[in-house]
Amino acid sequence: MGGVIEAKDQGAAGHGEDALKRLTALVAEDLAQCNRLIVERMHSPVALIPQLAAHLVSSGGKRLRPVLTLGASRMCGYEGPRHVALAACVEFIHTATLLHDDVVDESTLRRGQASANALFGNKPSVLVGDFLFARAFRLMVEDGNLEVMRILSSAAATLAEGEVLQLLIQNDLGTTEAQYLEVIEGKTASLFAAATRLGAVVADRPEAEAEALDSYGRNLGIAFQLVDDALDYAAEQEKLGKTVGDDFREGKITLPVLAAFHAGEATEQEFWRRTIEERQQDDSDFAEAQRLMARHGAVAKTIARAEAYGEAALKSLAGFPDNPFRHALAEVVRFCIARAR
Ligand code: IPE
Ligand code: IPE
Ligand code: MG
Ligand code: MG
Repeated sequence: MGGVIEAKDQGAAGHGEDALKRLTALVAEDLAQCNRLIVERMHSPVALIPQLAAHLVSSGGKRLRPVLTLGASRMCGYEGPRHVALAACVEFIHTATLLHDDVVDESTLRRGQASANALFGNKPSVLVGDFLFARAFRLMVEDGNLEVMRILSSAAATLAEGEVLQLLIQNDLGTTEAQYLEVIEGKTASLFAAATRLGAVVADRPEAEAEALDSYGRNLGIAFQLVDDALDYAAEQEKLGKTVGDDFREGKITLPVLAAFHAGEATEQEFWRRTIEERQQDDSDFAEAQRLMARHGAVAKTIARAEAYGEAALKSLAGFPDNPFRHALAEVVRFCIARAR
């Protein structure tokens, strides 16, 4: 890791995991309120709804997006209460997305526990996901600011577009890197960008600052997803809390696959076509995929790309006042990248 990431903003934290703790600690009170609001708004007289939602919420989760909203608001000098409900709104959108995503991806593990679809079935997961989306809408309507509603509703739509676009390119090794980046910007970075942009909006800061925070969140989100896609081939399952190799089994087109495919010789390209395009896989194929990736440094290339987006995220913070929140937001960049180590 080089350049801006080694700057003093990064200096105080130890290992990667600690790099989120500083921001989480700075917004601890706000986050506690946000978590209370999340639990409160999961309520419904239809018992299956809180049951299923509580299963996912109590399984943990980093609360990365709400912490970003809280931290960005504070960095911009906001002192009021609105950011707490908006942070909860962002986490509701994220949680709804996870419920739907695990159905679509047929994933059985989430946050180190059986996924909601594995435990309760696909239909309840989809429907409770809808409920959580509706709760998110409610929270933004209660805030009442049209700009806030525009930001969050656009992000939710862009996120869904990213997921649909991903579906369309699935199993297609002719996918370009640009198309892949469009998918991850949509499905992941759009919500990060909204989460951070909201900070400038609630604090009533000029549009240039909203743009800068949007750029910070967007670049951070792309870096985060790149690392996530690397981890799908490189992580220890227990640490990840998700099934390693899910992307491969699904034939998902991610940067590590594209990198290994394009660097591979003819027999290797045949391997990728059989496993990813035709989805003809046997038990030894995932290990072979990992071996080929190692041979061509495909995971390392993916992480290097994430680092470049991380640098861009850091640059977007440069114009903000030199306060502890800014330093902690900068450390989050390191957190997102160091997850891969
Ligand atoms: C998972 O996001 C979905 C992706 C964008 C890869 P997180 O890794 O932030 O999920 P939780 O909320 O901490 O479980
Ligand atoms: C996560 O995408 C869901 C969204 C960002 C919409 P992935 O399918 O890539 O992530 P995981 O691995 O299931 O968390
Ligand atoms: Mg998934
Ligand atoms: Mg998915």
